[in-house]
Amino acid sequence: MKILVTGGAGYIGSHTVVELQQKGYDVVIIDNLSNSTKEVIYSIEKISGKLPEFHQFDLCDENLIGKFFSNNNDIDGIIHFAAFKAVGESVEQPLKYYHNNLTSLINLLKYMNEVQIKNLVFSSSCTVYGQPDMLPVKEDAPFKKAFSPYGHTKQICEQIIECASSVHNIKAILLRYFNPIGAHDSSLIGELPLGIPNNLLPFITQTAIGKRDYLKVFGNDYDTPDGTCIRDYIHVVDIAKAHVVALERLQNNKTNSSCEVFNLGTGKGFSVLEVIKSFEKVTGVKLNYKFVDRRHGDIEKVWADTTFANKVLGWKAEKGLDEMTLSAWNWEKKLKK
Ligand code: UFG
Repeated sequence: MKILVTGGAGYIGSHTVVELQQKGYDVVIIDNLSNSTKEVIYSIEKISGKLPEFHQFDLCDENLIGKFFSNNNDIDGIIHFAAFKAVGESVEQPLKYYHNNLTSLINLLKYMNEVQIKNLVFSSSCTVYGQPDMLPVKEDAPFKKAFSPYGHTKQICEQIIECASSVHNIKAILLRYFNPIGAHDSSLIGELPLGIPNNLLPFITQTAIGKRDYLKVFGNDYDTPDGTCIRDYIHVVDIAKAHVVALERLQNNKTNSSCEVFNLGTGKGFSVLEVIKSFEKVTGVKLNYKFVDRRHGDIEKVWADTTFANKVLGWKAEKGLDEMTLSAWNWEKKLKK
């Protein structure tokens, strides 16, 4: 079985490529390396012993996709990660986000239909829920107005896939990630933020290693037990494994509709302070942090109802918060070396 992984050199993509290879799949990666490096491909090889086939180009270029599919007519399924994902940047440059995230998906769906590739796993996000009315949030919760153009592109992409799969011979599984953190046990792949990190874990590890002076904790006056925001943090390897399970579900014709949606979280919420405590406990490093004003656009709390993913998809997150923070720290130390 040959699987195309778009964005396979990225954070979640690279971990998924490893899991696929370890299950015996051949993997072809398309990535424009806009937010990753060629080194990642060799790190994947170091872990799995198999060098994935790699094509560097932009999925917004319809001609290049056409050429790719005419030279590769043996693809059995697609996992589509390739997208821009920086929330703040999307607010400043919305058109860049709408153009990239929508065009690449539409191009891909068009060719899937033309060359008759049936199965698609799509990388979505709990951002589609906004601040949900009910917690834990279930897959059938309504979309709220998106907090950012990035979040809006995920909502629109989901709707495009749902629509295309209802009329074309395409079956899709949309995976809504909560907050993926951590790194592979080997510390050979992990998150590689460009510039100053926006996300909590890379900021914590970079502060602890001495690259940043202190972590700003955005707000301690939220309506939560310790006043800081709550998220459902999930180990990136658990997320990667869910993609393999989703792909197998599609391949074995187990889906109940042309487009299914699953939450990928642990079902447990942790506050920013709890994440810091976990980090300090497992690493023995004291973290320098200060409370500052709330960050614009942050939601107060969100965590997943994972019942549907556990029962129907047959997948469950296995790793706990301490494992997540420790693996992120090991990765940061490896990067320093
Ligand atoms: N935080 C800090 N200081 C930092 C960074 C983050 O206190 O330097 C806090 C945030 O305020 C938030 C929590 O840590 O309470 C998590 O923030 P992240 O930026 O790590 O994650 P978000 O939940 O804001 O965003 C993530 C993904 C988005 C996705 C969203 C869905 O990064 O891509 O989840 O809810 F859209």
